[in-house]
Amino acid sequence: MIEQLQGQMGERCSVNPYILAAHGRDENATPGQLPLAVVFAETVADVQATLAWARAAQTPVIAFGAGTSFEGHIVPQAPAISLDLSRMNHVLRITPEDFTVTVEPGVTRHQLNAALRHVGLFFPVDPGADATLGGMAATNASGTTTVRYGGMHQNVLALEAVLANGDLVQLGRAVRKSSSGYDLRDLFIGSGGTLGIITQLTLRLHPIPDVTHTVRAVFPTVAAAAEAAYQVMAQALPVARLELLDDRSIATLNRGLGRNDPEQPTLLMEFHSSTPAALAAEVTLMADIVNGCGAVQVAQAQTKDEQARLWEIRHKAYWTFVSQYPGCRYTITDVAVPLAQLVDAVQFAHDLLDELGLKGCLLGHVGDGNFHTFLATSPAEAEQAHVYATRLVTYALGVGGTASGEHGIGVVKRPFLAAEHGLSLTWMRQIKDLFDPQHLLNPGKDV
Ligand code: LAC
Ligand code: ZN
Repeated sequence: MIEQLQGQMGERCSVNPYILAAHGRDENATPGQLPLAVVFAETVADVQATLAWARAAQTPVIAFGAGTSFEGHIVPQAPAISLDLSRMNHVLRITPEDFTVTVEPGVTRHQLNAALRHVGLFFPVDPGADATLGGMAATNASGTTTVRYGGMHQNVLALEAVLANGDLVQLGRAVRKSSSGYDLRDLFIGSGGTLGIITQLTLRLHPIPDVTHTVRAVFPTVAAAAEAAYQVMAQALPVARLELLDDRSIATLNRGLGRNDPEQPTLLMEFHSSTPAALAAEVTLMADIVNGCGAVQVAQAQTKDEQARLWEIRHKAYWTFVSQYPGCRYTITDVAVPLAQLVDAVQFAHDLLDELGLKGCLLGHVGDGNFHTFLATSPAEAEQAHVYATRLVTYALGVGGTASGEHGIGVVKRPFLAAEHGLSLTWMRQIKDLFDPQHLLNPGKDV
């Protein structure tokens, strides 16, 4: 059957071992197996032909963008082929007067923002990695700017997708609101390639802000930093980024990047405003809040270079962490809690590292109540990392939070779905069966 697929797709179907290896692992080295073959789709017709082959061969298909999942979304758990969409990477239509753009799924977010620069607009969702927009929609990506601009749910206006039976469907229209029909677009956002293959996206754009300002506030304790984040949100400051890095994060980043930042819990904030006067008022209120929460140092950056220097620690956090613990296995946890639970949850996650004697650090998008622990473990410590992740997710669920604020369910978090969703999970599985009765689309993931 693979030979038949190769005959049909020509050089767009590969069984080269290096290509298989690159499509059989995610960022977190989630266990699984290599795909049987990789198809590089160039057109919607290629996607439809691949799914027709999958139906005949009874062999599942896993959509692949940039391969930056942490939760094993793209790693086959049983024999499957990988459908790589990175060659479908055209920015099809920029419509500045509507603040929209229509792209193919393999366009990456850096590529998109480079293409938009000349029209003064940008696409805000920033998960860290230079992921593809199709992958970001499929996993409902979010990140540093979500506190102000929302994640993929808020920034995808319309989708086009190929279903398991080959139908090409339009999901939603390029309007900012609609009360028409069931919202299948929202159903597909975050469905992890389990309901269909996204082949086109129309995205919402935002004007590049006229004035921006970055602030770093340093606190004596992680609880004080989290409390300040909570107060910034409670006072409705229109912060564009609100990131926490604990003392261990800063120490790791100092070592890895040759920096000398105060090794204490830190908040990084960014403000986007339309006038210098509006910005000044926001920054004054912010200073009152962080000082009231016991900040021991507040540094401000206005020029692009100074801002980039402050943000370097956040943007390079994951890769720097990995570089500091060579040969280890990395576990990246990801929970979100209701904002009122943020301070206690961050303290719990921080103390749990000490209790279990693990090497790691805590950071995250605390304006959304969403944070991560990065753990580096030797093979002997692997079980403890699992205990850490399980206890943190159990804690988050116990206070009304979620098992994944951002990275999705994939393979690793599936055991928590029932506890989080109860009877709804049965209905999610019925939806999966309806769209994909033969379970040809990324089986064993997400639901
Ligand atoms: C980050 C990724 C790990 O926040 O979600 O850096
Ligand atoms: Zn994140």
